[in-house]
Amino acid sequence: MESVIVAIDGPSGTGKSSTSKAVAAKLGLSYLDTGAQYRAITWWMISNGVDVGDAVAVADAAAKPVIVSGTDPARPTITVDGADASGPIRTEEVTSKVSAVSAVPEVRRIITELQRTIARGAEQGIVVEGRDIGTTVLPDADLKIFLTASPEARAARRSGELKGADVHATKQALIKRDAADSSRTTSPLAKADDAVEVDTTDLTLDQVIECVVTLVEEKRTAA
Ligand code: DC
Repeated sequence: MESVIVAIDGPSGTGKSSTSKAVAAKLGLSYLDTGAQYRAITWWMISNGVDVGDAVAVADAAAKPVIVSGTDPARPTITVDGADASGPIRTEEVTSKVSAVSAVPEVRRIITELQRTIARGAEQGIVVEGRDIGTTVLPDADLKIFLTASPEARAARRSGELKGADVHATKQALIKRDAADSSRTTSPLAKADDAVEVDTTDLTLDQVIECVVTLVEEKRTAA
């Protein structure tokens, strides 16, 4: 197999980003963080005074921002209308509003098209992480992984990333966001029937990376 497409889905705090970046770097593949794209469009809506609770207004504005993702796993980048958005997309305000924006079908249509174009253009192959990659964006991916972990483990990891944020509050916010992402009508967070589920609760990051690298290598050998 010359080029390989790997879809990695799952809720937040399962180690998706760290795993996806490391696997891509080890195997010489490109890397795409699709959550960053939904965060970027959310940041643009907030910055441009669009009421994110108004699905019609969000849909009307969805085609306006120009979102560009850099796919080097060693240095992933994201710009909106040419401006670096990597810092602003991680704020609490964006995190609390991204589920509403990403539930709007027109937003998903535009971002999904962008993701497919990027995946098609990745000559050596790509690791794409998100919520609906294996089910909707790239249903023909060579390998689909669905990462899970207990809510406690996910909250502990996220509050570690947020440098000491309250674990209980982080857990409640995570559960709320996952429920919204899983229950939306258009391409919700879901495991594809042919995805390999990896429960990361009791695994170190290195163990998860090794597990996924092995799965990709097995696919490549079998192809
Ligand atoms: O992975 P993340 O936490 O940065 O993702 C931010 C939000 O984007 C998440 O709450 C749901 C949404 N998202 C989505 O709807 N579909 C994707 N493929 C990726 C993310």
